[in-house]
Amino acid sequence: MDCNDAIFSRRSVRKFTSETVNDAIIQKILLAGASAPSAHNEQPWHFIALNNEEIKKRLAQEMMVAYIASGKADEQRARRSYDMTINTPAIIIGCLDTRLLKYQNELEYKMGVQSLAAAAENMLIAANCLGLGAFWRAAPWVTTGIMRGLLGIPDYVEPQWMIHLGYAAGEPREKSLRSDINHWNHW
Ligand SMILES: Cc1cc2nc3c(=O)[nH]c(=O)nc-3n(C[C@H](O)[C@H](O)[C@H](O)COP(=O)(O)O)c2cc1C
Repeated sequence: MDCNDAIFSRRSVRKFTSETVNDAIIQKILLAGASAPSAHNEQPWHFIALNNEEIKKRLAQEMMVAYIASGKADEQRARRSYDMTINTPAIIIGCLDTRLLKYQNELEYKMGVQSLAAAAENMLIAANCLGLGAFWRAAPWVTTGIMRGLLGIPDYVEPQWMIHLGYAAGEPREKSLRSDINHWNHW
């Protein structure tokens, strides 16, 4: 797939076949993330690749319980989150290492979050290029404690996003692009 196709044909894929994603492919996607731009070239990320069924199941279970306890999701929605997690062959969790930020202030923190977002997008495009489906999930923002506890993430490291990866089952949703977005020389 060429570069244009990889960008323009990317869509969120949320349903996967049960086919596993081999480690060499996951490594390529990790490398795509690590190649992203970052503020001051801090490369303030760590990536946790999950492909162990038992760990995924425990994470899914604990996230489901946390969603219900927090009042952010009813039982049905929390169950969908559980299914989403266990029915994904591989998940990458993107984490911001706050100790790698050049300055400990809000601006630097924001740039760290943006750097992590750039890594996520690189991974989504790489996944598309490699024939995989993928989508970005914001769940770590609301389940930080659980992820820290279960995966041994230190307290100065913030899990920020999950990328679900697998071989697509079915076609992704169509989407139209907003058109009123570009401003030349003036708003
Ligand atoms: C910061 C961010 C957070 C997202 N969080 C979620 C999420 O928690 N669950 C989900 O299903 N999709 C999530 N998405 C995917 C978006 O819903 C998706 O990108 C959007 O609907 C556009 O569709 P497309 O990716 O097919 O272009 C997220 C995307 C971004 C950029």
